[in-house]
Amino acid sequence: MPKGTFGVTTPIYYINAAPHLGTAYTTVAADTIARYERMNGYDVSFVTGTDEHGQKIAETAEKNGMTPQAWCDSLAPAFTDAWKTLDIDYTNFVRTTEDRQTRAVQKFWQGLYDAGWLYKSAYEGWYCVHEETYYAESDLEKNEDGEFVCPDCKRPVRYESSGEENWFFKLSEFQDKLLAFYDEHPDFIRPVSRRNEIVSFVKGGLQDLSISRSSFDWGVPVPWDEGHVFYVWADALIAYLTGIGYGDPEREAEFDRRWPIQYHFVGKDITRFHCVIWPAMLMAAGMPITHTVFGHGFLLTKGEKMSKSKGNGLMPADLVRVFGVDAYRYYFMSDVQFGHDGSISMERMVQVYNADLANTWGNLVSRVTNMTTKYFEGRVPEAPAGSEDNPLREIADTLYAEYDACMAEVDFTGAAAAVQKLASRVNLYVEESAPWTLAKDPARADELAGVIYNCLEAIRIIALYMAPFMPNTSAEVFRRLGLGEIADTTDIQEATAWGQLPASVAVEVGDPLFPRLDVDNLPEL
Ligand code: MSP
Repeated sequence: MPKGTFGVTTPIYYINAAPHLGTAYTTVAADTIARYERMNGYDVSFVTGTDEHGQKIAETAEKNGMTPQAWCDSLAPAFTDAWKTLDIDYTNFVRTTEDRQTRAVQKFWQGLYDAGWLYKSAYEGWYCVHEETYYAESDLEKNEDGEFVCPDCKRPVRYESSGEENWFFKLSEFQDKLLAFYDEHPDFIRPVSRRNEIVSFVKGGLQDLSISRSSFDWGVPVPWDEGHVFYVWADALIAYLTGIGYGDPEREAEFDRRWPIQYHFVGKDITRFHCVIWPAMLMAAGMPITHTVFGHGFLLTKGEKMSKSKGNGLMPADLVRVFGVDAYRYYFMSDVQFGHDGSISMERMVQVYNADLANTWGNLVSRVTNMTTKYFEGRVPEAPAGSEDNPLREIADTLYAEYDACMAEVDFTGAAAAVQKLASRVNLYVEESAPWTLAKDPARADELAGVIYNCLEAIRIIALYMAPFMPNTSAEVFRRLGLGEIADTTDIQEATAWGQLPASVAVEVGDPLFPRLDVDNLPEL
């Protein structure tokens, strides 16, 4: 019986550029927590997808001589392929051009229209085609020529006063309700620094939000007004609901069971959409609100935000080729504190790889499996009475509480460090107990068996805690220890209780899990 449901989402990524390290970062983080909560007994939903509508896509498709749909179809595999390369085990991938998304978007907004939350009015404002967003003049920046430019992408904006009539959502009526909601739900916006930003933004007053366009047609049609399509954000946010069954009569019960979810993981640049517009939309619809929007920081290379448009957007596959998928995941999750900006570099990645993976975790597995072969003919020795009192067990016994508390704080760095602490301690324990000396003295055979058993047992436990970060390696370690499928674990707390490694099972040595890398022979980041 699952403990309950657990849901996480990534942003629904613009389809115009293949995933780079920044977008992959959010996705790996969502996958890591999803994998953990599965091992923790929850029935997990993990929704990701692609945001495929809007003027920009329509324009690019035309430039490429394709229909927008054909253009999107040609780009979507870049996402599914990248997520496969990174071992992302999502439960639902929503493309906003799917029929189920159209149905969900129309159902949602029709409800708000019927309830009187929408009205039609002319729109005038500064519009950035690239970001597909209108900006208040006070938010704009100026370039060297004195032109107004978009505060996000720095491209020139244009004043749109076409007199185009748009549908507006009465967002301004939600100021007090949102402030009260933030007050009552201190965990809704995390980390706290982002919460303060959002609260002061909302205190400054809210303007109604234009949710439709009639100047182009690449979007979900507004059902009650022909010629209008929904604005990209009014469309894409709904994908979080579509993914778990909203709008699908056959999945109604599933949706009710799964919504609201625990987390939207988003970059800090889009927290406002998720912390202001989205909860107001849900309030207007009378629906419960996601427990937490977690706004993570940016990955920086040489002090600058990585992005495709700046040309410093390296592709995940480039790094996976060098480091392997598990080390890739481990580096980003352990070395860039989720919630803060973090600098990444090839040098640092090699350092972490060599220290934590090659020298600590990988080395430990090789060493101990080798000694098992040498001293016990490759079979797990029987743990002699009393051997369970050992320093590894002491750490292992409190590890679940520590690791789980980190995961509850979305502190991947802390969770990884907690497991590393045990791995380092096992390496030290090997040094302290010197099995090679014990092996020379037949009178100490029991002691030797105890030491090897304890090391193997600690390896089993470490593999379980590493699995959300590095699923392949952990599965391989389980295989080498003659254990079952690690992915079937549904109670990690119980599974990591000391002493469950069965004796006399054959242990395999295998190749090094993380061969050492030489920093001088790597491509530059
Ligand atoms: N389509 C919208 C989201 C709609 S969600 C209902 C969108 N798409 S996006 O493709 O631009 O999203 C990019 C996501 O990647 C954002 O969360 C953004 O913060 C994140 N990142 C882009 N560059 C980044 C870094 N250099 N570092 C970390 N994440 C960054 O916005």
